[in-house]
Amino acid sequence: MTAPPRKIILDVDPGHDDAVAMMIAAVHPAVDLRAVTVVAGNQTLEKTARNALNVASAIGLTCPVAAGMSRPLVREQVIADDIHGVSGLDGPVFGEPTVALDGRHAVDLIIETLLASDGDITVVPTGPLTNVAMAMRKEPRIVERIERIVLMGGACQLGNFTPAAEFNIYADPEAAQVVFSSGRPLVMMGLDLTRQALCGPDVIGRVRKLGNPVARLFAELMEFFAATQKEVFGWEAPPLHDPTTLAWLIDPTLITTKAMHVDIELRGEHTYGRTCCDWYGVTGKAPNADVAVKLDVPRFWDFIIETLALYGREG
Ligand code: BDR
Ligand code: CA
Repeated sequence: MTAPPRKIILDVDPGHDDAVAMMIAAVHPAVDLRAVTVVAGNQTLEKTARNALNVASAIGLTCPVAAGMSRPLVREQVIADDIHGVSGLDGPVFGEPTVALDGRHAVDLIIETLLASDGDITVVPTGPLTNVAMAMRKEPRIVERIERIVLMGGACQLGNFTPAAEFNIYADPEAAQVVFSSGRPLVMMGLDLTRQALCGPDVIGRVRKLGNPVARLFAELMEFFAATQKEVFGWEAPPLHDPTTLAWLIDPTLITTKAMHVDIELRGEHTYGRTCCDWYGVTGKAPNADVAVKLDVPRFWDFIIETLALYGREG
């Protein structure tokens, strides 16, 4: 008997790699996408919400899409326009979206969806953790209803927004602290893993050959993303961060994880927003996260390409 699809709420700040996470979550038969919630992150909320609607329209998304928090909980706002462009999703040209925003605030949609569930929903954040933390604080009863949190953020090793910190955590460290200390099972796809998911021209070529409109959108997004990642970090190919969350959820054999305690640095002058990952267990604190360490690279790309093929093959 095949397992029923995993129910998820996808919380995004699109963002090129968030857009791909939406593509995967919307079409994969092992996923039951209940809601897409949008947060400010790679760009302002106005822009990330517009981008989410553009992607939702392009992929034929049918679940509600709601806009949430426009600012981090405590810190001043930062964005990642050097990587994702002025719109937050530069590269492709979109027409008028055919999908409209749900009337609810994303925080309320998260709360309503979780309270109505049987505790079988996984929350998948691929942006700053503001919406999720706010929902936990506004309605603490949701915390125990969350089956698991599978997020993209953090790093055991080097950061990408500061030398110490990864963007999603740095953009709202206080929210990250709320989520990491929530006591729910948490899987962290940090830069240690996502820097193994380098989306080179070979992968883009394989996706282009699928010939469907979503595959073309993927290729256009990745070509822009490749250029900025090369310019800012010198990467020969861009790390496809956010879809690794879905890869783990759908096929955990693609990703090796290690249990450890992760604390969020909230006071460091040079280390604010760092995920302090206790790899060797030196603090004696019980693990609160399964941290992704190793990607099965060829099988990961097969997974991405086979999933995008579900949008149709060239006839
Ligand atoms: C993360 O930051 C964003 O720019 C990406 O969308 C990803 O979620 C990587 O640090
Ligand atoms: Ca993101």
